Amino acid sequence: MNAIHYREDDLYIEDLPLSEIAAQFGTPAYIYSEAALTGAFESYRAAFANLDPLLCYAVKANSNLSILRHFARLGCGFDIVSGGELARVLAAGADARKVVFSGVGKSEQEMIEALNADIKCFNVESLNELLKLNTVAGRIGKTAPISLRVNPDVDAQTHPYISTGLKDNKFGIAYDAALDIYQQAKSLPHLHIVGIDCHIGSQLTDAAPLIDALDRLLGLIDQLSSAGIALHHLDIGGGLGIRYRDETLPDLSAFAQALSERLQGRGLQLVMEPGRSLVGNAGILLTRLEYLKLGEHKNFAVVDAAMNDLMRPSLYSAYHGILPVTRREHLATITVDVVGPICESSDFLGKDRQLAIMEGDLLAVMSCGAYGSTMASNYNTRTRAIEVMVSGDQTRVIRSRETLDELLANEKSCLDK
Ligand code: LLP
Repeated sequence: MNAIHYREDDLYIEDLPLSEIAAQFGTPAYIYSEAALTGAFESYRAAFANLDPLLCYAVKANSNLSILRHFARLGCGFDIVSGGELARVLAAGADARKVVFSGVGKSEQEMIEALNADIKCFNVESLNELLKLNTVAGRIGKTAPISLRVNPDVDAQTHPYISTGLKDNKFGIAYDAALDIYQQAKSLPHLHIVGIDCHIGSQLTDAAPLIDALDRLLGLIDQLSSAGIALHHLDIGGGLGIRYRDETLPDLSAFAQALSERLQGRGLQLVMEPGRSLVGNAGILLTRLEYLKLGEHKNFAVVDAAMNDLMRPSLYSAYHGILPVTRREHLATITVDVVGPICESSDFLGKDRQLAIMEGDLLAVMSCGAYGSTMASNYNTRTRAIEVMVSGDQTRVIRSRETLDELLANEKSCLDK
């Protein structure tokens, strides 16, 4: 059963009515289903069983410590992009030997922290980063395990802001330069070449570009092996999409089969960096309708969540389903833009939605488990929402609601200095 579902006219998450959760914890609130998290992880594990990949969950999708700890306990590794994310995975009890470090702008300090933690691999994104890593590792008496993040120049056919594998994107090392840079890496004393990496974009609804990217990488791996450079692992990044609305998605088993055929006999460990597909549909943003503003041209449902809580609609015009927590069949349905209280016209969560609602009602903004809370801000001096994990009929606060004191602390301490 879907973790978020109606029983009669009430929307539930696992075995709890969302109305009860709102009464207990207030709104806006991010609510997650633990069973949905586990289920998404298990689907990967089942589909890819015969490849036995190392799943390195992309922490940026949702970096809540309790969620990281849940995945760590399931045996997951992590893909991090900052020293902050490294600190999070270590605090959550992750095994550093299952951590890969991506990102175009790793600082010296971040390199030192990751070297000292003995992570599995640095996904290096430029020649200058490679040279710096070699120097930094030498200085502290370490050898850095590296992959090059290769830009395979394939079109991921997704939103341009979340497409990363084209020549025009800032990510990775140009395909044609990779062989030469691997050879330079081989000659550097404080680096140890362990793999190859790519990540072509996010919310992919077709696996074909991922398979094209893999084929490009395999071509390169053959050239590397002729040049005497053998790799231990191949990291194909993340990117598999989820259903926000009516998207058809790649079949995981068919994708796994395509990978299996290509990797057979190569002796390469497969690494994947899924983010959204592990958490996206496991969470909702729960919000309360403050005002119905009915007009001649347009109706607005002003809710207590806003673009600071969920940026995706404003930033990418992303669609998130919006469901009433109580279905009111006797009420007339109206067409509304669901908007927040922030002073920006781009502060909307959904446009032109058909809803039968009245003031005080609760709404669930769906599929908010990924890139929801992690992209939240304090704009308009709004405190960050509480986050609650549900398991069966049990709730657990996994991030308490930010208080104004916390929000103002770093500025108050500077007043009158
Ligand atoms: N690996 C790397 C190196 C990445 O940059 C990303 C995401 C992932 C893995 C995970 O990709 P996923 O499996 O989640 O698609 N804020 C945007 C998404 C940005 C994705 C950035 N990179 C959104 O809300 O749609």
